[in-house]
Amino acid sequence: MKILAIESSCDETAAAIVENGTNILSNVVISQIDIFAEYGGVIPEVAARSHLEAIMPVVHKALQDARSDWGDIDAIAVTHTPGLLGSLLVGTLTARTLAILHNKPFYAVHHLKSHIYANWLETPNQDQPKFPVLSLVISGGHTQILYMKAHNHFEIIGTSHDDAVGECFDKVAKILGLPYPGGPSIAKVAQNGDRKKYQFPHPKVENLDFSFSGLKTAVLRRVQKELGLPISFPSHELASKLTEKQVADFAASFEQTAIEILLEKLKLAQTIYPAESIVIAGGVSANTLLRKTAKKQFEHVSFPKPEFSGDNAAMVGAACYYEIESGVQPSDPYHLNILPRSEIK
Ligand code: KG4
Ligand code: ZN
Repeated sequence: MKILAIESSCDETAAAIVENGTNILSNVVISQIDIFAEYGGVIPEVAARSHLEAIMPVVHKALQDARSDWGDIDAIAVTHTPGLLGSLLVGTLTARTLAILHNKPFYAVHHLKSHIYANWLETPNQDQPKFPVLSLVISGGHTQILYMKAHNHFEIIGTSHDDAVGECFDKVAKILGLPYPGGPSIAKVAQNGDRKKYQFPHPKVENLDFSFSGLKTAVLRRVQKELGLPISFPSHELASKLTEKQVADFAASFEQTAIEILLEKLKLAQTIYPAESIVIAGGVSANTLLRKTAKKQFEHVSFPKPEFSGDNAAMVGAACYYEIESGVQPSDPYHLNILPRSEIK
């Protein structure tokens, strides 16, 4: 089964053709990172406008790269939740129109499901995660632990009470004067830093939940203290006063703490929800130190190939395939609504 998938929930315009949930025939991603690096973050109206310009060329390129035409496509899938309202609208309206025009079954897919299913992409059967699966989803908008007894079965067993871990990377990068997106910037300079130089407390959150807003504030306060400045000093002026060495040490100590917090909770989850496989997914799962540390601490842990950690449409095609296999019925392309916020079901 060949699925044409479309993703536009944040600042990547993407289309892909995926066969049987794993085999990628094409995968086109146009990123708006260059635009938003200048602003230091995503501006929703600008993102929506860029999606509008890119979406049809991206869909056509996906068909072209796969040497396919509409007759080869068995279904159309699109991310309809969660994400930026305008961005989601561009992708879903395009997918709805194409489904009607070409008379294809139409599926609306949850973005976090897609991140999880990135772990099935280009993975032979024998290496695919085995159920029950424990999944840690770490992105710019979410930090959750999910328990999957079977395909397309999700139980949220832990979630962040405030900021997502990716958001925390982005905010700490801003404090340190590092470019957007903060995750890769922090990881890069942290390579030259001392991971033990600064100690940041781990949040005391009950059960399997997370909190990351305190860690961001702890970094801010420590930077102010290091520079001998009061807490009233504007945070956007701090970075220019830090030396390269201080920035590297802060980045390394922060990255270390964030990873410890994530993996401690995953360890705890494993004691309560025994699993055959651990699956880590979402933009932050690209982090090299996290990958190394998790592989040391967990058996049977899988990550997406690094190019599938961030937003892309191939993962939407994978998630859609396993929805269809699990008996999910198509959505009505004339009536599907977007949902900027919603939990995985
Ligand atoms: O999944 P994603 O591409 O978009 C959302 O669904 O949110 O995740 C984006 C997040 C950003 O916060 C970005 O800073 C973070 O993933 N990220 C990383 C790395 N690469 C991207 N965080 C830590 N280390 C990385 N190497
Ligand atoms: Zn994402």
